[in-house]
Amino acid sequence: MESQNQKKRIFSGIQPSGELTLGSYMGAIRNWVTLQDEYECIYCIVDMHAITVRQVPAELRRRSLVQLAEYIACGLDPSKNVMFIQSHVPQHAELSWILGCYTQFGELSRMTQFKMKSQQHADNITAGLFTYPVLMAADILLYQADLVPVGEDQKQHVELCRDIAQRFNGLYSDTFTLPEPFIPKLGARIMSLGDPGSKMSKSDPDGCVYMMDKPEDIQRKFKRAVTDCEAAVKFDKVNKPGVSNLLTIYCAASGKTVQEAEEAFAGQGYGVFKPAVADAVVELMRPIREETERLIADKSYLESVYRDGARRAQGIAQKTLSKVQRKIGFLAR
Ligand code: TRP
Repeated sequence: MESQNQKKRIFSGIQPSGELTLGSYMGAIRNWVTLQDEYECIYCIVDMHAITVRQVPAELRRRSLVQLAEYIACGLDPSKNVMFIQSHVPQHAELSWILGCYTQFGELSRMTQFKMKSQQHADNITAGLFTYPVLMAADILLYQADLVPVGEDQKQHVELCRDIAQRFNGLYSDTFTLPEPFIPKLGARIMSLGDPGSKMSKSDPDGCVYMMDKPEDIQRKFKRAVTDCEAAVKFDKVNKPGVSNLLTIYCAASGKTVQEAEEAFAGQGYGVFKPAVADAVVELMRPIREETERLIADKSYLESVYRDGARRAQGIAQKTLSKVQRKIGFLAR
């Protein structure tokens, strides 16, 4: 029966440009786990995206492997999902070149993230940084993905991907599925502990909790988290962004509702609240960290997962690429 093929397809990826954080888990990977039965999911470690800013080669290599271990430790089952490393599937680079010839310079110039990153890395504004959304479009379109789970900051890139797909389909007849950004209802947006006005980022070691942080590091980071001088555990994003962020984390870690948490800490100061948030996070992350450590020690298993993933990914990707090459007039090999 065709029933297998009627599942909608999901594609998403995270850059191995830093250690994964609590934000990556609560905002993305935890949701991916809930999708793995209902959808056909493809999860990528986008190392080709990571080199749009300078990386230390040995670190990039290590983090790509650790990230795969973390995906699995978080509950992504390699037999249910396709998990692979972007550079192992050359079709991404090939389609990316082609799509770049169907993307306007003006469109890429308008990308908010490019404008931001080119300010941050003003001494190294590469063509790769500029064309990065085209590579991302290739990632998505190669697999004919219906849905793309991403954070708010990536929505514009998925919209551009749709525009490119629509343009191509218009010129050459239906080739690509038009993907939609998929912002899961449960997705918690975790902010920096040091600056609750900005998203928790792996490049900000004090403001973020890494998935592999030891319990004492987690305790220390929460102890230093920015709050306010009111000493009331209340959810109020506008006036109490730090405390609201801690409440979001506490609830996501403990399964309690905001109201339950507010009641539990009523009349208690941050001296009680902060260590309690840290404890909840420590307990949430402990099994994941331990399983990640176990998996990292089993390198041959991880290799078998990413090799199998790349093989399965290539099977899908090559079909799309061949179709595209034929339609635009490349001579068959
Ligand atoms: N650009 C995304 C980010 O930095 C990562 C990414 C690359 C991605 N390709 C993708 C996400 C395809 C979703 C789909 O977060």
